Amino acid sequence: MSHILVFDSGIGGTSVLSHLRYRFQNSTFSYVMDNAFLPYGLQPQELIKLRIKGLIVWQEQYLSNVDMIVIACNTASTYALEEARKHTQIPIIGVVPAIKPAAYSSQTKHIALLATPATSNNTYTQKLIHDFAGGCKVEILHSTELVRIAEHFYWHSTLDQAALCEELKQLHIPYSVDRLVLGCTHFPLIADNIKECLPDHIELVDSGKAIANRAVSLLGKQEINIEKAPLKEVKFYATAPVLDSKEEVALISFS
Ligand code: DGL
Repeated sequence: MSHILVFDSGIGGTSVLSHLRYRFQNSTFSYVMDNAFLPYGLQPQELIKLRIKGLIVWQEQYLSNVDMIVIACNTASTYALEEARKHTQIPIIGVVPAIKPAAYSSQTKHIALLATPATSNNTYTQKLIHDFAGGCKVEILHSTELVRIAEHFYWHSTLDQAALCEELKQLHIPYSVDRLVLGCTHFPLIADNIKECLPDHIELVDSGKAIANRAVSLLGKQEINIEKAPLKEVKFYATAPVLDSKEEVALISFS
């Protein structure tokens, strides 16, 4: 039975966690959110590297037997994955924008990446586009408002659809785009609502399922449908208090 640590700036990583829980039904999950520094998309790279180092030191001290760390945050992964691997022997999976499958499946060869400002503008993402979307035109878009909307939706179960559509409208996604890469783990949480604002021919692409596949190949096993047992609880940790919490969240600090 494995123990998997899933990390994000906020609640976005739960979009990856749900795929992982499905594939590892007997595993223990710890979910850590660094909401004291949310949104990561507006933070400088140096700070994010420090936070990731802090996370790794913290988990070594306070969690036991972590078998795998999933940095379920495109911003932290594109900024600090290499840094993270310097500080631990535990296997780490990062989540990066699904440029490759989007470019591969696009009929019009015109795709868009929607991520945080930090992910959209960094060199890791540019390299992904260069390496995997050679034959495509790629629109690079960003939104912090969508992160805020997704957080609000998770904690309060309400969403202002008009405000969401307005935010997407001002991104001016060209009509010939047929794949929209959700390059922030917060966005799949509101994928149905995002779809409602867009023309039908635009397919949304995210990395959640591919990350779960990668985790299975890395841990060399999966625990799917074992005795159809109810899923184990996830232990939630946060670096800032969460108000109106629907989960039990332990307050932690690392630096
Ligand atoms: N969920 C994160 C990502 O995938 C970042 C959101 C934020 O904190 O800006 O990039």
